[in-house]
Amino acid sequence: MPKVILHKGGTTYEDEVDPNTNLVVRAGIRKFPYPNLAYKCGMGKCATCSCRILGGAEHLEAPNWKEKRQLGDKLEDGYRLVCQLWITEDIELAQDA
Ligand code: FES
Repeated sequence: MPKVILHKGGTTYEDEVDPNTNLVVRAGIRKFPYPNLAYKCGMGKCATCSCRILGGAEHLEAPNWKEKRQLGDKLEDGYRLVCQLWITEDIELAQDA
């Protein structure tokens, strides 16, 4: 089971999730990382869910066109749209408070 570590507002949250999990979908059904992950559209349109990937980025699919459009140069700094990610391996991420 992939382990997810989320840093948010100075606090670290950690739990295991099922393989091939989308964290925004989970938050929507009130499972970890609810209520600590900020998100809105769930469709790659608002960038509210953007997080900086601190570890495990190598296991993620390459950024899709929505991430490229919303994040631009921030992709180079390790930011991703969490609503566009399917978690298959351990990951550590930080969301600006
Ligand atoms: S929740 Fe809107 S882009 Fe991810």
